[in-house]
Amino acid sequence: MHSTILQELGYNLHEVNPRLHYFKPNTSKTEKTFAEEISYSLTQNSKFIHPKFFYDQTGSRLFEQICHLPEYYLTRTEISILQFLKNELPQFLDKSYRLVELGSGSSTKTKLLLDILHDLQERVEYFPIDISDILKEGSQSLLESYENLHITGIIDTYEGGLKFIKSFDDTPNLIAFLGSSFGNFEYDDSIRFLHDVNSTMKQSDLFLAGIDLVKDKKILEDAYNDSLGVTAQFNLNVLQRINNELDANFDIDKFYHKAEFNEKENRIEMYLRSKEVQSVNIPKANLSIDFVKDELIHTEHSHKYTVSQIENMMDATNFEIKKIWQDPCQNYSMVLASKIF
Ligand SMILES: C[S@@+](CC[C@H](N)C(=O)[O-])C[C@H]1O[C@@H](n2cnc3c(N)ncnc32)[C@H](O)[C@@H]1O
Repeated sequence: MHSTILQELGYNLHEVNPRLHYFKPNTSKTEKTFAEEISYSLTQNSKFIHPKFFYDQTGSRLFEQICHLPEYYLTRTEISILQFLKNELPQFLDKSYRLVELGSGSSTKTKLLLDILHDLQERVEYFPIDISDILKEGSQSLLESYENLHITGIIDTYEGGLKFIKSFDDTPNLIAFLGSSFGNFEYDDSIRFLHDVNSTMKQSDLFLAGIDLVKDKKILEDAYNDSLGVTAQFNLNVLQRINNELDANFDIDKFYHKAEFNEKENRIEMYLRSKEVQSVNIPKANLSIDFVKDELIHTEHSHKYTVSQIENMMDATNFEIKKIWQDPCQNYSMVLASKIF
């Protein structure tokens, strides 16, 4: 099976030890390069940088810090729901499941799900999928916590990882998508993503997604404008990444972090704003770009949903909702769904 995936999907296998290996796309896999994507996105009338580029090593570390900030209610609320699931989820797990996690990051919250599987099964398989190498660090520490855990990391995009899973084998998958990363998709992309997940799923597979809910504007804006300025560093770090990897000369001090809630669209909009007229060279993207004062680079949307919007989206993409859990303040939701056959 491995050799089929290696050949057909274009992955290299890195075996770390008998319980831990990774698949990484080889260079022949036709993904657009960082330079190509940046040279497109920074030459549009409204400049943007795709949020997947936040997560170099520094960006991943900064995100970990954000998760511990008092204003960032998302992580602690999601953790509280996952803790509640310890007694709730087993009723839906009538066989042995493999945990697949999209955008696993450092796999910190994953432990709460692995604990549940660990109590029910003798052997637990975990397939983290993340575009960032941070996946490796999280995996090492998980192996130390669980003797019966076997990890297969896929260092790739969600789309690549889902194709990988689809061709892998017949083991039932519990596919988790935590951290409200779902909110980063535009509406059309979120529907495309749900279709992609759904088409990957087999009869017994389950999809578990943490989705942030619409709430008070101040709570939302505080979460993305923390008083320590960590979110600002996280946002600005994407310019530093372009400097590091594409030899660019962004002067980071000449940009501001800006995050505000758009009430009409129910989303946090995150930008980098140019403090002054300036030019930037990005040699590895063959690019020289000009900024006027106050010009914005859009870096992230974080959409917030109502429960009925979530139900409609799942309905439109061939899912049957098994259960939606919320915290007592109804700030956050966890949706469990299966595929309709
Ligand atoms: C907001 S963090 C969430 C991390 C973790 N799931 C949590 O809940 O704390 C998003 C994670 O998804 C990964 N990611 C972002 N865009 C991705 C993409 N298009 N494909 C695969 N991984 C992606 C990032 O590297 C990062 O680790």
